[in-house]
Amino acid sequence: MVTECGTTLLERTRGIVAPYAGREGMLVHALQDVQGVFGYLPEDALRVLAEELGVSLSHIWGVASFYDRFHFIRRGRNTVRVCTGTACQVQGSRNVLQQVEKLLGLRNGETSPDFSFTLETVNCVGCCGLAPVVTVNNEVVPAPEMERVLADLRKGNGGND
Ligand code: FES
Repeated sequence: MVTECGTTLLERTRGIVAPYAGREGMLVHALQDVQGVFGYLPEDALRVLAEELGVSLSHIWGVASFYDRFHFIRRGRNTVRVCTGTACQVQGSRNVLQQVEKLLGLRNGETSPDFSFTLETVNCVGCCGLAPVVTVNNEVVPAPEMERVLADLRKGNGGND
């Protein structure tokens, strides 16, 4: 795999993790850096990380899978989350999820083929007073504005890029 800067994934990963060489205690930081660059943790990158830190790949899998912030498959540049916690369910989050699925053409848990969006559910984001809640890239989006926000992201007027 060649990255957008023309380097291979392996070369890029070696550059990212070089400061952590031999420092097993920095594993989580190294994982964050790798995911920060690729958006997820490619298996080949984890192999490089294992070599550089001098730990087994299975140890790295164990640590990375402990944290739900690490992802092992490529995700969309924009993450849309529909809250399905109790307060949001009472206020109709099931309908909101169906609406978002329709707008994005995705089912819960899916990523669009062009990697623009990942859709998932979340169990309470701590804004129950605003229920039903949708977040886009961790920002709470009021339900009436959701369609416009998603359309703007599609047009490239926002997002993580
Ligand atoms: S239940 Fe949805 S924000 Fe709390």
